Amino acid sequence: MEGMQLIGFGENNSIRAQKQRRKGKKNPFNEGPWQLANRISLDLTYLFDTPGDAPSITFEDIEDIAPQVIRAHRMLKKDQGDIYDHGIPMTGWQNLPGEITQEHLKEIKSAARGLGSQIDAFVSLGIGGSSLGIEATFKALTHTYFNQLSRRERGDVPEIYFLGQNMDPDYFRDTLDMLKGKTVGMNVISKSGTTTETAIAFRILRNLMEKNWGQAAKSLIYVTAGAATGALQELSKHEGYKTFPIPDNIAGRYSVLTDAGLVGLAMANIDIEEFAAGFEYMRNVTMSDDLWENPSLVHAGARYAAWLKGKKIEVVATNSLPLYGIARWMEQLFPESEGHAGHGMWVSPSLYPEKLHANGQMVQQGERNILETFLMLREHDNRITIPHDKNNLDGLNFLLDKGQDMNSINRTVIEGPAYAHYLGDVPNMTIEIPRKNAFCLGEIYYMMEKSVAISGYLLGHNPFTQPGVEDYKRAMFALLGKPGFEQEGKEIKDKISKMKRVKI
Ligand code: PA5
Repeated sequence: MEGMQLIGFGENNSIRAQKQRRKGKKNPFNEGPWQLANRISLDLTYLFDTPGDAPSITFEDIEDIAPQVIRAHRMLKKDQGDIYDHGIPMTGWQNLPGEITQEHLKEIKSAARGLGSQIDAFVSLGIGGSSLGIEATFKALTHTYFNQLSRRERGDVPEIYFLGQNMDPDYFRDTLDMLKGKTVGMNVISKSGTTTETAIAFRILRNLMEKNWGQAAKSLIYVTAGAATGALQELSKHEGYKTFPIPDNIAGRYSVLTDAGLVGLAMANIDIEEFAAGFEYMRNVTMSDDLWENPSLVHAGARYAAWLKGKKIEVVATNSLPLYGIARWMEQLFPESEGHAGHGMWVSPSLYPEKLHANGQMVQQGERNILETFLMLREHDNRITIPHDKNNLDGLNFLLDKGQDMNSINRTVIEGPAYAHYLGDVPNMTIEIPRKNAFCLGEIYYMMEKSVAISGYLLGHNPFTQPGVEDYKRAMFALLGKPGFEQEGKEIKDKISKMKRVKI
């Protein structure tokens, strides 16, 4: 309606941060006091001795496991044990933060800027470990409606989209509509180079780009692929695409600090130097063989103790929508690494309070097989106050009287459930994240990567392979009639045809 435009809420700090990153403004992430203020913490207050009848975790349980955990840690640091994939020890992520060079990060930034300045929209193609970490980091550190902002508000970077993570033609088509009329660049990411979903998305988008721009499309395509084995590397050589390697000794879900993650993050103008510094900081913190000094070891020990006590589901709940992607990244990291030989906990990512009004009932009173891990954001980018209302019909004026605003209330959507769920026999722990920045995210990723690696030793299997995922890939190839899989396809179809069909 004419003259009616909603205004009056000032500048959004997430947008301000995006603009400042463009201007080259950096957090002092190499300074000790800043690092300390941005150190994530692990709170185990509600982990021990839940009061009801369900088996509880005790402090002594962790102490009993400690020698196993420390032994596992020593082996991990020496690259020993069941850590090989095709003869390669898959522990390259361990020392990567200390090995990554400033020159390398500069090269990535300049490549991202080179492409980013020519395009209106950037599409990151990949699935699993070649997608989740990038998307999680991007969403955590940018405005919720990033693509709807002006280029200036985005920090002079293109719109950013994700494809290849599903095979839904409508999602694909809808995304194409968003790209219509724009100059588009893309980064296809696949360590193996043979993942069907990514390859199909790549083929479709590449074809469209080539139809529109012919040879000029080549300069708009970046390829991130396995250094030695990737089929994509071959295609890139043939077509002359710019390529970035994914080291052979790092599995997809551990690869967000490799070029698999960094190229897309640099495209969004996320400070990848600060990101790497967060990893390195946590690498140093988690070097210790003193269990109680090392958050990765405590985290791994707590989860293992919970699993031994019959906790088969881990609800990973956050009070920050931007951090929900981290919970989704954990949903991959842990089950794909632990879910072997009948082991592992199912990870259920949740956004609170939304999920408190859904499966919150189950968490409080359902089967007592749940461990809960909170990702609690301490400081949001913005503060939202609650206005006074003279009639107070909703009875909420007391919040103002108590000095509460939306931020403090959002903290209680973790603190309240943490206490109530504990009383309901759900042991829980809280990872407190001081603020949304690249450093804190680097810390979380590294802490979790080391934790799940230790978990593999404790459970007695390799946490760096995913033979179960390969099984579905084979079945899909066979059903699609991929050359080389004809016999398997025939056998599968034959077996399926003999199954009793139950359809009502
Ligand atoms: O963690 C993993 O290894 C997997 O989730 C892979 O990242 C996923 O299957 C995608 O594989 P690729 O990068 O080879 O396309």
